[in-house]
Amino acid sequence: MNDILPGDIAKWHFVENTARRIFHIYGFTELRTPVLERTELFFRGIGDDTDVVEKQMYTFTDKSGTAVALRPEATASVLRSVIEHGLLGTDPIQKLYSMGPMFRYERPQKGRYRQFHQINVERLGEDSPSSDAETLSMAYALALALGLKGLKMEVNSLGCDDCRQEFKRALIAFLKDKEKSLCSDCSRRMKTNPLRVLDCKVVSCRQAVEGAPAIEDFLCEGCRVHYNKVQDALRSFDVPFEKNPRLVRGLDYYTKTTFELTAEGLGSQNAVAGGGRYDNLVKTLGGPDVSGIGFAFGIERIIMLLDHHAPEKKGCFVVLQEDDAVQAWALEVLSMLRTAYIPAEAAFKKSFKAQMRKAGKSGYPLCIILGQAELEKSMVTIKDLRDSSQIQVSRTEALKKIRSMLDKQGEKK
Ligand code: HAM
Repeated sequence: MNDILPGDIAKWHFVENTARRIFHIYGFTELRTPVLERTELFFRGIGDDTDVVEKQMYTFTDKSGTAVALRPEATASVLRSVIEHGLLGTDPIQKLYSMGPMFRYERPQKGRYRQFHQINVERLGEDSPSSDAETLSMAYALALALGLKGLKMEVNSLGCDDCRQEFKRALIAFLKDKEKSLCSDCSRRMKTNPLRVLDCKVVSCRQAVEGAPAIEDFLCEGCRVHYNKVQDALRSFDVPFEKNPRLVRGLDYYTKTTFELTAEGLGSQNAVAGGGRYDNLVKTLGGPDVSGIGFAFGIERIIMLLDHHAPEKKGCFVVLQEDDAVQAWALEVLSMLRTAYIPAEAAFKKSFKAQMRKAGKSGYPLCIILGQAELEKSMVTIKDLRDSSQIQVSRTEALKKIRSMLDKQGEKK
């Protein structure tokens, strides 16, 4: 679990603001849920034999004896909220996004943390292939707007319950005589969730599934048509993608379209986003029989890839001589600047020299110097910290001059 320090915060703001801008363009609105939910929600929603639920949930019993959990992902929480507030009754199509911390008790490594942050999207009430493709294209548009490089969108279809049953049988038959080379998790998954064996990262499991049947060959007519149309629509949206028949994903609720977006420069944890369609989840959680699709980006992984610096600060550092009258005047100047929406700071009770040093390190382009000499002459000294030039202007002209010098900030660089 990490602190997010002031030196990094500009990147976080950039990521969050970019996501808001892109989602707004696609007509999505924000929904915020608490970080704590009843544990049962995730058992029902995500599946009790997934790693996330079985091994990674932070759960405890609260003072009233209720089993609660820190949310390991946002989908189940968002759907719980939509159902609880009857939002689908108000509008049968819900396009929602959320951002915030998620919690998974994982083995920490680069790009994998126990508290991490997601930008999450859920789209409910539409089941057409175009809505799948549009959702994937929004994820891609966000990745581009964030400036991520070497993007790869992998898609697959996990079919519906019917075609998946057939596929499971074929997969189990294929893995039967390879069971000895599977890791202990996968030996267990053979019985509980054989599809997960397909995306196990252990080398011997990867070798064991070479030549395994592909789910695409088992899709029923409806799922096959859906998958083909999603691919056509992705081409129309101009989203490059590759089919990956091994893409299974770690959560149990997916049906039909699933996808993962990877980016260059992340090492082994290279998925920046993942998601897919879930046709049964709203109903499973007690809502109407409505399908949905969604995805989530991991913010920490995006931040690791950003190499842009904090934007240049716009504003003034006010340096004042120690004197009661100057002090009172300085407070007026600070208020005047802030009323004009010009960022302004001062360091009270420091020597003049220390204040000048602080101004130099502040990152502001301008320093306003207020001393007895200035007070007597009713003038203000403005020092341009970028080239150390200095001018004096009358008190009445000061605001206008500061504004014009700040407006020229870009040109001066
Ligand atoms: P997920 O694949 O479990 O999907 O997580 C989505 C993204 O969250 C990952 O691609 C990764 O970038 C980030 N992530 C996951 N675990 C960690 C971690 N321990 N540390 C850092 N980043 C992490 C979901 O959570 C689904 N709820 C997505 C979804 C929404 N599907 C439908 N709607």
